[in-house]
Order: sequence, then C-alpha cells, then structure tokens
Amino acid sequence: MSTKVIVETTINGVPETFVCEPRQTLLEVLREELGLTGTKEGCGNGNCGACCVLLDGRPVNSCLVLAVEAQGREIVTIEGLAADGLHPLQQAFLEHGALQCGACTPGFLVSAKALLDAHPRPTEQQARRWLAGNLCRCTGYDKIIRAVLDAAERMQADGSAGEAALADKAEAGATGNAPQSSSRPTAGEEVRPA
Ligand code: FES
Ligand code: FES
Repeated sequence: MSTKVIVETTINGVPETFVCEPRQTLLEVLREELGLTGTKEGCGNGNCGACCVLLDGRPVNSCLVLAVEAQGREIVTIEGLAADGLHPLQQAFLEHGALQCGACTPGFLVSAKALLDAHPRPTEQQARRWLAGNLCRCTGYDKIIRAVLDAAERMQADGSAGEAALADKAEAGATGNAPQSSSRPTAGEEVRPA
C-alpha cells in the first residue's frame, strides 16, 4: 500500500486540495479525482498533446507530470479557458470548423492560449511550430492554424490580447521542471521560423 500525499494547488483560479498517490499523473488526478474531464488522454506518453494544461502559465503534457508536482502551483485546464462566454480561440475554432472528433481540441486550445499569451501576434510559422506537439488526426491542421491566427487578430482588435497574467509568469520563466513534449517550445522560449 503506497503512502498518499496531500497536494495544495490552484486550479482555474480556485484553491484546490487533493490527495493522491506519488505515482499518479496530473492527468489522472484531474480526470479521475477532480472530475475535470475536459483534459483528454490520447497517447499517455507525451506524444500527442491532448492532455495539455498550463502549469504556472507554461504548457505541459499532464500525462508526463506527477500530480505531486502541482504542489503550490497554478494549473489552468480547458475548463478554465472560458470566462464570460467562449474564449476567442474557442469561438474561432467553431467558426473555422477547426475540429471534427474533438479529441485533440482541448489540448490545442490550451496550448494556443499559451502561444497567444507569449506571442500575441504570432506568424503562421510560429503558430505551426508552437503547436507541433499537438497532434490531430482529423482536420489536417490548416483550419486549426487559421483559427488561431484569426483569434489572435480579434484579440488584438478588441484589446484582450495579453490580458492574462499567465503570460507574464510564462515570460518570466516562473516554471518548474515539468516534462515537455520534445517538439513543443516552452512558453518562455523564443519561437523562431523553421
Ligand atoms: S496523452 Fe498524449 S501527450 Fe499526454
Ligand atoms: S479533431 Fe479529431 S483528432 Fe483532432
């Protein structure tokens, strides 16, 4: 029988305390203990990005993060993206038809939010590079990229770009050592054209 650990964290702006086993992943706890099933499990080994959440503003694959690593940190899941109505990214995904089965969509949206927090006016190359760690088997990616760039334009136009404090934390490197998908730039890393 393994020892359980009490973890105090903040999820989507709300203080949260949960009990987990040291071996449990953040993905497992979010979905199975806390009922936050918007975060999806695809591969379970860090390759698909479906499980992406923000940890102190940085996109991480939650299947590669131990739940105990969330101690004292701030997590944003897909459930935390919409505030008053849909997030501009969510609206753009709908309008551009940037989803089909939807399995990859929460991960794309969370990762794209981190992109726009760090780079409010990404180029297409930047967006493609940033989202390279998120896999989609349905859309062919073009609609997703168009939706992300459209959302960026709208956020610039309505002044909501860069509002999130998460961006500042990401840019300041307020991050731990959570594992990353090898192809996903970290939020604080310069995104260069390929
Ligand atoms: S489930 Fe595929 S990267 Fe986590
Ligand atoms: S919409 Fe089906 S995997 Fe992306």
